[in-house]
Amino acid sequence: MAAALFLGCGAPEAEGDGGTTEAPRSGSADQEVILVTGSTDGMGRALALELGSMGAHVIIHGRNEERGEEVVRLIEEEGAGSARFIRADPASFDEVRALARTILDEYDRLDVLVNNAGIGRGADQTLREVSQDGRELRFQVNYLSGFLLTHELLPLLRASAPARIVNVAAGAQTPIDFDDVMLEREYDGSTAYAQSKLAQILFTFDLAEELEGTGVTVNALHPASMMPTTMVLERGGEPRSEIEEGVEAVLNLVKAPDLGSGRYFSGTNAGRAHDQTYDEEARRKLRELSWELTGR
Ligand SMILES: NC(=O)c1ccc[n+]([C@@H]2O[C@H](COP(=O)([O-])OP(=O)(O)OC[C@H]3O[C@@H](n4cnc5c(N)ncnc54)[C@H](OP(=O)(O)O)[C@@H]3O)[C@@H](O)[C@H]2O)c1
Repeated sequence: MAAALFLGCGAPEAEGDGGTTEAPRSGSADQEVILVTGSTDGMGRALALELGSMGAHVIIHGRNEERGEEVVRLIEEEGAGSARFIRADPASFDEVRALARTILDEYDRLDVLVNNAGIGRGADQTLREVSQDGRELRFQVNYLSGFLLTHELLPLLRASAPARIVNVAAGAQTPIDFDDVMLEREYDGSTAYAQSKLAQILFTFDLAEELEGTGVTVNALHPASMMPTTMVLERGGEPRSEIEEGVEAVLNLVKAPDLGSGRYFSGTNAGRAHDQTYDEEARRKLRELSWELTGR
């Protein structure tokens, strides 16, 4: 029986006499495959190392190849798991599609997708930036790219069920003003960050309903407050928790049995998100807008 690291079921049995042909770049037949976006740094990096040490095949993602390959090396040197780096900039929908295409072409399973890549409030919170696709940068990097990546990868996740999607949101949540989602009228980095994080949670609740009965679950969380990572330190933030706390909270959504779907957690505890995330009309508006903005 193949190993069952996280999800209570083994990897698909290899056919034949056990003389399987392993594809080293996409993990072996008994490894669960986990994509962690934004795993070249911060909490995503620490999570990837932990998953590797638990024996998973971890797909490392980020923009920085050197840091990505370093994470791969550390996982492979430890020997329990395996890893591979795929570069893509979440500020480009084309690059997100290419990332998904590589995975769809080269992997026959994906057990867990952790949408973790993120950009913080910024060192200069008055500076409004736009993505390569002309979208407000934080809305694209923190939310729209995860929306797009998730939908592109859904066929593989469905085929790999039981599978999980974990959306790393935050306690900072500001309701979306649907008349100015791109924050063209008035901009500040905190609002941009917090509305993108609320969008991730709205998306989580909406997708959970769509995926009911498929064996693919989707949950969101606030991992921990003010961990000492690049996004916090670059704006002079005072750390209030350890990166390990956030890793533990995400791991809980990756591997806890009978977790259910469409839930929001604060750390390892069930929590309540901002009121707007429970608003059906806001969900519908965000869903339609997201299809339009990602050009899908
Ligand atoms: N730190 C906290 O206290 C805290 C609290 C609540 C929630 N969170 C959430 O936890 C997740 C991980 O955050 P973190 O604190 O670990 O952040 P971090 O250390 O700044 O790491 C961010 C990751 O995202 C990638 N990334 C992709 N596009 C990026 C872009 N345009 N700008 C910056 N980074 C980009 C970075 O890799 P490349 O540079 O290689 O692309 C990196 O791997 C985020 O979703 C964040 O919102 C963090």
